Amino acid sequence: MECIEALLTRRSIRRFRDEEVPLQRIIEAINVARYAPSAKNSQPWRFIVVKDPQLLRRLSELSIGARPLANASLAVVVIANKDESPTSYLVDGALAAMYFWLALHCMGLGAVWIQTLRRIEEINKLLDVPSNYVPVAIFAIGYPAEKPPARPRRPLEEIVFIDKYGNKIQSTSM
Ligand SMILES: Cc1cc2nc3c(=O)[nH]c(=O)nc-3n(C[C@H](O)[C@H](O)[C@H](O)COP(=O)(O)O)c2cc1C
Repeated sequence: MECIEALLTRRSIRRFRDEEVPLQRIIEAINVARYAPSAKNSQPWRFIVVKDPQLLRRLSELSIGARPLANASLAVVVIANKDESPTSYLVDGALAAMYFWLALHCMGLGAVWIQTLRRIEEINKLLDVPSNYVPVAIFAIGYPAEKPPARPRRPLEEIVFIDKYGNKIQSTSM
């Protein structure tokens, strides 16, 4: 898949076919995620592959937004070590998470990022994660059973400034 096409066609996939995703495929995507950049190349990330149906169910009950986990083949929890990258662990973890998501997409797998930051302690407890780690993202993963259109994006005029905040670009330069 061409690089830009991959970036533009990724979607949050919340409905999955009833088909198991081989662990090997997930390991391949994690192998790609290892190449995400990180502050001082600290690589503070770890990946927990959750296959146990009981654990998946418990995670899916954490919030309304976590429901896609209930019908996912498996989940991957990206955690970041605060001590290994004290100022940047969240950013580093998010970069690895994003690389992972894009790799899954390039492999034809569907996934959605599930919010973790309001449930840090519960997630760590459920998965035996030491307290110096923060769960950055949970991905519900499976073979896509939906093909959602792109969600709306803010227009460029609203988000790009030249030199100083508020100096909008001319529409002719886009
Ligand atoms: C930090 C973060 C947290 C998110 N949390 C959830 C969530 O808890 N549940 C969910 O269904 N989607 C969640 N999403 C997915 C967003 O809703 C989705 O990325 C956004 O609507 C844009 O759609 P797209 O991913 O298809 O481009 C999250 C995405 C991010 C980046």
